[in-house]
Parts: sequence; C-alpha cells; structure tokens
Amino acid sequence: MKSVEVLLSPYEFDSLRGRDLSDTLCVVFDVLRATSSMLTALFNGASCVIPASRIDEAVDMRRTMPDALLAGERNGVRISADVSGGVEFDLGNSPREFTRARVNGRRIIMTTTNGTRALGACATAKHVLAGAILNLDALREYIMHTHASELIIVCAGTLEQTALEDVMAAGALIDSVWERIGDAAKSDSVLIAREIFRRSNGDMLSVIESSRNGRRLTSDPHLRDDVLFCSRRDVIDFVGVLSREDGCIVRG
Ligand code: MLT
Repeated sequence: MKSVEVLLSPYEFDSLRGRDLSDTLCVVFDVLRATSSMLTALFNGASCVIPASRIDEAVDMRRTMPDALLAGERNGVRISADVSGGVEFDLGNSPREFTRARVNGRRIIMTTTNGTRALGACATAKHVLAGAILNLDALREYIMHTHASELIIVCAGTLEQTALEDVMAAGALIDSVWERIGDAAKSDSVLIAREIFRRSNGDMLSVIESSRNGRRLTSDPHLRDDVLFCSRRDVIDFVGVLSREDGCIVRG
C-alpha cells in the first residue's frame, strides 16, 4: 500500500470531494453507532442497507421502495414524523433494534447524523467498507487480500467533532495490518490513531465509556446498553461493502 491515512474529524470529509479515489479502499467507522447498527442489521438477515445523507433523500428513496424499512436518528433519537415532514421512521439507530424479527430479508434505508454522511463522502472510492469494533478481524482480512494503492480510514465523528471511539477503532485496525504498511505510507494520522489504540491496553470498553458519545449514551437508561453492545470485538465475521452500482451496503 502506497499510502495510509486516517481522517480524524468530520471537517476532513470535504477533502475527499474531487480527489481521485479510483484505487482507494475506504473504511468508515462510526462505532457509536451507525456502522455498528448497519453490520448488526446485515448479521440479522437484512438484505442490504442503503445509506442516505439527508432525511428527505431517505424519504424519497422509500417512495421508490415501499417494502424497505426506514431507519435513522437525529440528535440520537429515531426520526419522527415531526422531524421528517410527515413520515414516521420504523427504526432508530440503536443496534439492538435491528433484531432478526425486525430486519430479516428486508432492505433498510438509513440516515444518521454523521455515519451515513461519512459513507457518502467515500462514494467514489474503489472499495468502501462499513467498519466497527464488531468486525475488526474481518476488516483486517479484507485489507490483506484486496489490492488498492491507498487506504483511507474515515472516522465519522460526532456532529463536527472528532470521536475518540472512532479514532481508537481506526488505530486497532491499523495495528492489525501494521506489517503491511511500509514506513513511507505511515502518515502522522496513522501514528496518532495507533497510539490511542495502544494506550487502551486491550480495554476498549473503558475508553469508549470515557468518550463524549459513550457518556451521552450511558446517561440514557434506554441507550446505555448500546455502549457495551458496540464495544464487543470480532463478533461479526464479515464486512459491509458499499456497492457503487446501487449504493447498497451488503455482506462481503
Ligand atoms: C451518527 O451517525 O452520527 C451516530 O451514529 C449518532 C448516534 O449515535 O445515533
């Protein structure tokens, strides 16, 4: 790999616009919670997840796919008819909502504050993966067996801020493919992310609980369990791949 980079904050999404990503593999982390929810949906049998950056875009898509479920959040809560302009969303953004009973065999159109925006920013890349702590080893395998001259790990963040849990997950992934990254490819953002992961000393849950997002979720009795749920390492053995043809994320 000629170059490896981590986009640490949402301010950097725009740097991908107009950039040649034709030989780039992008991995998007929104550990709390969008990419963790997408992977859980696929694990529980959803046929695909279609990310939409905006609420109106998601609602328009559903008009053309009436059988699809609408999922997503704003300010962390399920999108209500008041917020969407009349359409009640079926699911929010808690991975625990994406049970087999709700999602098996269904297409899901999903819009979240940062996660789906980060995926949208990578749309022209050769390969785009939805990543989480849930499937770090599957991501490592994919990277090891895929040819791309460039790896960009995109940390979705929270609103316009960097999110510690996303940077740490990026660092964990980098650590697992460290031997594959030549010295010339090691940008400072790669070193920063790896250092944050190494400082966790294998206790990623404690770091996540200390993060801004972790504290926000922990303080809400309905969402508290999402933190532990999203911190489980390697419980999903596949990656979520965004297809450039139809904009769907499917099992890969
Ligand atoms: C996002 O996409 O910004 C997050 O997943 C927000 C959330 O935790 O609901």
